[in-house]
Amino acid sequence: MPPRGLTLTLMSRFSLAPMTTKTAVTVLGLGPMGHALASTFLTAGHPTTVWNRSPAKAGDLVARGAIRAATPADAAAASDVVVACVLDYAAAREVFAAAAPALGGRSLVHLTSGSPDSARSLADWATGHGVTYVDGAILTPTFTIGTPDAVFLFSGQEEPPAAMASLGGSTTYLGPDPGRAAAYDVALLDIFWTSVAGMTHGFAMARAENITATELAPFAKGIGSLLPLVIDNHACRVDQGRHDGDHSTIASAVAGMSHIIESADARGITVETMRAARSVALRAVEAGHGSDGLSRLTELLGPRTTGTAQR
Ligand SMILES: NC(=O)c1ccc[n+]([C@@H]2O[C@H](COP(=O)([O-])OP(=O)(O)OC[C@H]3O[C@@H](n4cnc5c(N)ncnc54)[C@H](OP(=O)(O)O)[C@@H]3O)[C@@H](O)[C@H]2O)c1
Repeated sequence: MPPRGLTLTLMSRFSLAPMTTKTAVTVLGLGPMGHALASTFLTAGHPTTVWNRSPAKAGDLVARGAIRAATPADAAAASDVVVACVLDYAAAREVFAAAAPALGGRSLVHLTSGSPDSARSLADWATGHGVTYVDGAILTPTFTIGTPDAVFLFSGQEEPPAAMASLGGSTTYLGPDPGRAAAYDVALLDIFWTSVAGMTHGFAMARAENITATELAPFAKGIGSLLPLVIDNHACRVDQGRHDGDHSTIASAVAGMSHIIESADARGITVETMRAARSVALRAVEAGHGSDGLSRLTELLGPRTTGTAQR
């Protein structure tokens, strides 16, 4: 065994950096989500290069070993896998235009939320620049990244690069249509935000009757726990085109929604969301579907696409 002094001399002359076999990854965008992604790649041992419009947000990552790139192009040049997560598609397009000289031949994993058509159009741009484009949707908050609770959806030219497995949780590849992950995402966000809108309104209704939020919460959670059952039942009926009102009818839902509106009006609480929901249900009643189940409303809201929007 060489003496310790000689070992240290050799280490300092050659390299002190630990050897890693992990793929180098670049992260463009260090908002709360981009930061969580970059931090997780670092923790997993990937050589990680970061770029953010406001460079200060890279500070702690650089202190932990990340390389700060001065420009999006420098960042893209550093790694075969480039992950991007910014505010919206307009911002993403600005960043990718700046990175374009170095993006050719790279795998671009784009995790910014957006519409399916935005993803498809960006995929066309990427293909035109020789970039392998994978679009992704993150369905869970920042604190899940790197844990088993993280949920990612991907779609596009090919399956996401293996490095994405370092982000933990479950990943589902939905096929070559680059808009498909975003299509799932917007549908799921629709469910989430309308549910949250209902929850915030329900707490206001309770307050107006001197019921504290904490008093209501256990029962509100009970309502929430019914949703998985309702979702399975509704999904089955929508796909089978079977809308019998054996459990509950649209006419009955209109009556229920009406007494929520009446109670809110009586306390001066704004109630636009419920009025909008009731007007959809009333249209169904007027069209002769009052005795159908609520799954009929999904059918009436929009036609099934038969291929024009898909690839
Ligand atoms: N946060 C979550 O829990 C979560 C969960 C699921 C999905 N997502 C999605 O992840 C994406 C990013 O979300 P986020 O939470 O990280 O924060 P965000 O506020 O949506 O995005 C902030 C990031 O966008 C950058 N940015 C904004 N405008 C820009 C421009 N014109 N050019 C370049 N960069 C620009 C910001 O740079 P500066 O720092 O310079 O402002 C920052 O890096 C969103 O699409 C969001 O829907 C977030």
